[in-house]
Amino acid sequence: MSIIKSLEKRRTYYNLDKKIPISEQEVEEKVKKVTELVPDAFNMKSARVVLVFGEKHEQLWDEIYDVFEGKVPREKLDLFKNGAGTILFLYDQDIVKKMQEQFHTYADNFPIWANQANGMLQIVMWSMLRELNIGASLQHYNPIIDAKVKELFDIPESCMLVAQMPFGGIKKEPDEKEKEDINKRVSVVRS
Ligand SMILES: Cc1cc2nc3c(=O)[nH]c(=O)nc-3n(C[C@H](O)[C@H](O)[C@H](O)COP(=O)(O)O)c2cc1C
Repeated sequence: MSIIKSLEKRRTYYNLDKKIPISEQEVEEKVKKVTELVPDAFNMKSARVVLVFGEKHEQLWDEIYDVFEGKVPREKLDLFKNGAGTILFLYDQDIVKKMQEQFHTYADNFPIWANQANGMLQIVMWSMLRELNIGASLQHYNPIIDAKVKELFDIPESCMLVAQMPFGGIKKEPDEKEKEDINKRVSVVRS
């Protein structure tokens, strides 16, 4: 599938189930491949990914409900829990610190680049899942859930949680998105 086709198919999927068309091992392989291929500033490899399946995935969304003490509706979090798994995106602040010490001139940029590289990883992961007929969405319950997530998955203290991507079988396609004139956002300069 071309990158444009893949991006066209990627959407925010809230209505998920546990029936994904490939095995957990195949998802694992693809997630590892994407993490390997997506670039990072100075090739610093700051991104960390935790791929969670099954009961642990369900527990994650139950714990998120508890951490928010009912402020996020159960029905909303159950949409994610109904999926087959969750990908947690993080970056390692120890790597960022080392780069800052090594390259003083760019010190302020390294945390920004780590976040940007993480965003690159997220979009590729999201589109890759859709290519495999797996729906996903991008969620941000961090930083409220950080301590609980670290405890649940034994994640090192140096890792900063950036996003959560629940995924699963596609139960329903989202509504069409409103299009706008792309020329308002893209200018072309020719000499
Ligand atoms: C950086 C970023 C943060 C987002 N955060 C959330 C979020 O916390 N919760 C959510 O439901 N969707 C979130 N989204 C999804 C966007 O709302 C969604 O991608 C956008 O409305 C376009 O819809 P589409 O994904 O169906 O194309 C986020 C998307 C991006 C790129």
